[in-house]
Amino acid sequence: MEALAQDKPSGCPMAADASAAARSEYASYMRTEELLGLQRRDEEVLHRDERLFQCVHQSTELWLKQAGFEMAHAVWLIEAGRLSAAAQILVRASKCVDTIAQQLDILARMASFDFGVLRPALGQGSGLESPGWRNLRALAPRLLAAFTAQREARGVTLQDMFRAGPDSALYVLAEALLDLDAKVSTWRLQHLAIAVRTIGDGGIGTKGMPVQTLGGLLAHRLFAELWSARSATAAAY
Ligand code: HEM
Repeated sequence: MEALAQDKPSGCPMAADASAAARSEYASYMRTEELLGLQRRDEEVLHRDERLFQCVHQSTELWLKQAGFEMAHAVWLIEAGRLSAAAQILVRASKCVDTIAQQLDILARMASFDFGVLRPALGQGSGLESPGWRNLRALAPRLLAAFTAQREARGVTLQDMFRAGPDSALYVLAEALLDLDAKVSTWRLQHLAIAVRTIGDGGIGTKGMPVQTLGGLLAHRLFAELWSARSATAAAY
């Protein structure tokens, strides 16, 4: 228990300046007071690594919110026939997912034993319940439906589209969708690596899902139909 006490935070160096900063125009526009008050307080945490754990999860939710915002706009643009603009916006969504995949790595610096100390704080909470993740997954079929409607309206098959190359706006949009899907797969792979490193190969999640099942999800595709058509193009030469 003594070790646990040592692992409690030793106080925040930003605290002294906090009230002056809270009054600035920057703080008022960015709402930093509310934002920085969303983490568990020193006296609440079971282990100091809860700060890191919450920081990664909370910032992930912000980036996923942004990714969903861009994806929803892309649906609207595709429905309006603005395919190049939609492809551009999807690049942003991909970069949001890229960012959350990269930041997962910092959790590899958390000791498995320390995670065991903070884990009770989660209760039954799991990333499976992430609203940002759910939103992203719900938007994928809407994106595909909007894309398919535009492709069919132009009378272009998937095979023809993949043969047409980057002079075709449909092709460029399809590639942007595949990029987004690939970034999600990269996040899943990185997340699996962190899960294995933290709770072990035989670990069980807070929602009862074995880590091995997460491995099975690596094969999941948001836009399976597009991947198959692209592969069929490769098989034809
Ligand atoms: C030490 C770090 C982590 C561990 C050990 C871990 C572990 C797990 C486990 C075991 C699952 C399976 C579901 C369950 O039973 O809970 C899961 C799912 C999930 N976790 Fe994590 N996780 C970690 C970090 C994160 C972070 C930082 C996020 C970001 C929000 C996250 C988001 C998710 C999501 C979205 C799922 C569903 C995955 C899918 O549908 O492919 N996890 N996690």
